[in-house]
Amino acid sequence: MIEKVNLSEKFGLFSEHWSPKIAGEVGDSYVKLVKFQGDFVWHRHEEEDEMFFVVRGEIVIRLRDGDVRLSEGEFVIIPRGVEHKPVAREEAHVLLFEPKTVLNTGDVVEESVPWQRVINAQGACSTGRVIVPPDLQQRMLESEGVVFDAKGRCDLSRYRWTPEEYEAGGEVGGGEQPSLFGG
Ligand code: NI
Repeated sequence: MIEKVNLSEKFGLFSEHWSPKIAGEVGDSYVKLVKFQGDFVWHRHEEEDEMFFVVRGEIVIRLRDGDVRLSEGEFVIIPRGVEHKPVAREEAHVLLFEPKTVLNTGDVVEESVPWQRVINAQGACSTGRVIVPPDLQQRMLESEGVVFDAKGRCDLSRYRWTPEEYEAGGEVGGGEQPSLFGG
């Protein structure tokens, strides 16, 4: 049975800001719903293009060479590698469309691993006590598509990244990624 998705209904199911929820899958991409309020951090996705579609309210995607202002019914696609900082003065409802493979970090072997990708053995963020706001690491990872459960843990078998020299061979991860809205 194929079921439709009602956006206002789905947005009514959560209240956290900067915490994307998976609302559907299209091939190798996820449709995610997220509520913006305030400032997010500057970041970029080395491998993934990211679409921001404003369902309700207004947002600004700050770019190093200017801002893109989006109102209801407008979208923008931020190409891979382009630094961006999403901002919303007041709460806005945003639909993201982006590839599932957001932690494809194989090309950063020679660089240091970004701090937000260091998580402890339970799959939870380990910096909760030293960073303000306390859930920034989780939100940054969620912005990259990592899904956390209600206890702040993510599926390590899916998101663990092993430096090439330690890789024993075989694929990391696999399996179904749960939709936060249930089946
Ligand atoms: Ni982004």
